[in-house]
Amino acid sequence: MSQSEIMQITTVPTSLDQAESDALIVPVFEGRLEERFGAGDLAQAGEVSGKAGELTLLHHPPAVAAARVLLAGAGKPEKFTPAELRKLAGTALRHLKAKSVRKVALALEGEWAMEGYSAAAVEGAILGDFEPDRYKTTDDHKAVDSFTLVAPSEAAGIERGAARGRIVAEAQNYTRSLVNEPANRLTPQKLAQAARESAAEFQLECQVLDTARMTELGMGSLLGVAQGSAEPPALIEMHYRPESGPGGEHLGLVGKGVTFDTGGISIKPADGMEKMKYDMAGGATMIGVMRALAQLKPPIPVSAYIPAVENMPGSRAQRPGDIVTAMSGKTIEVINTDAEGRLILADALTYARRQGCTHLVDAATLTGAIVVALAHINVGLFANDDGMRDRVLRAAKGAGDRMWAMPLEEEYKEYLKSAFADLANVGGRWGGAITAAWFLKEFAEDTPWVHLDIAGTAWLDDAKPHLAKGPTGVPVRTLVQLAMDWNG
Ligand code: BES
Ligand code: MN
Ligand code: ZN
Repeated sequence: MSQSEIMQITTVPTSLDQAESDALIVPVFEGRLEERFGAGDLAQAGEVSGKAGELTLLHHPPAVAAARVLLAGAGKPEKFTPAELRKLAGTALRHLKAKSVRKVALALEGEWAMEGYSAAAVEGAILGDFEPDRYKTTDDHKAVDSFTLVAPSEAAGIERGAARGRIVAEAQNYTRSLVNEPANRLTPQKLAQAARESAAEFQLECQVLDTARMTELGMGSLLGVAQGSAEPPALIEMHYRPESGPGGEHLGLVGKGVTFDTGGISIKPADGMEKMKYDMAGGATMIGVMRALAQLKPPIPVSAYIPAVENMPGSRAQRPGDIVTAMSGKTIEVINTDAEGRLILADALTYARRQGCTHLVDAATLTGAIVVALAHINVGLFANDDGMRDRVLRAAKGAGDRMWAMPLEEEYKEYLKSAFADLANVGGRWGGAITAAWFLKEFAEDTPWVHLDIAGTAWLDDAKPHLAKGPTGVPVRTLVQLAMDWNG
């Protein structure tokens, strides 16, 4: 699958006044008057306040080589985290791109001239550069050619940070480009092809289980969803193994790969159904994460498992009331065919456990209910293990993805009772994101596991100053960080 063209990223250890570019982005802070670049008057007049998001473009600023300086509000210095810089870089880059500026530079000065900030700046620029318009044939596409970090020559780790930021952000944009593909162009087989190509490009192992193999393994829950579509399903696996260190731990990443969710026989309303092409965002996340990990080489073996299906109401489709037997042996009464994500994830979780994964994280656009609970701000996080929960929350914090821990107490299990099978696939009207998570928990069993419900956060309905409308690639950065920090 092709991805957006990546601009050239460089770092130059030099002083600001010597850095050549079409535009130099300079963060300015609240409460710190910016006197350089002839901006003193503007600052005195309150026109440049340093508030986060504020942009002031200066042409031909005195005594610098850059043709323009873009003063970019950075907020209060004590609150200026890498996450703030990521946003600032994206906002500034998108602003300049709209003005057809091609050579962009950003100044990393003072206490910010260090690795974590250089990674965040590069991430912000590359993520900000992404556009979801590859199928527009009109050629008014604007592109930034280069992004350069300008840092003092004594600053350490700038290049390392930039290199890491580039790998992570390109992986995240790859995920976004997959998520953005319409379902006629990205079928389960095409998703498998994208995984195979990614594996070949970055020297990972990759296998794809077909219907026959899944039947042998007893994956009745996954196959029940797939049977309504003419498109054959796939269970995609990708493997990364570190060169040294045996260690007993093995991280499994399971991603929902529904290339289109009509709801099946319990069909969805027409209004907004076109968005259901993003129902494979969890799966695309895991492919992106594996691309990054292949390059960054974390200390722990990591495998991705992506059940890929199309949820259609074909003549062979499963019906409400059908009872399927999952790979784990549990029987499931399918009350609502639109609760298909949990059905395919059930078998993928069982498979990952049987393959020897000792820790599991899944990501899925699983429920509308999580959007009701957390809006489009936070990923809903569920866990059967406090240690795993804290690990993922810490990684999310470091990566700048917002996540909120949700409850998963025993009492919620009640709602999944069926009179006819071990479990029903829906839990009724209330707490829909929690009962969905409980369903998955039944298949994670005693393996430490975290479930990320990304239904509200994998897609942006409206562009933000730092991000285009459409796929966000959340939570690629968190999962990369989780693997990288595993022993730390
Ligand atoms: N893919 C949807 C969840 C979804 C909804 C994602 C809105 C993104 C935006 C999932 O398969 C689904 O249909 N869930 C149902 C579950 C219900 C039938 C219990 C839902 O949330 O309505
Ligand atoms: Mn559904
Ligand atoms: Zn779905």
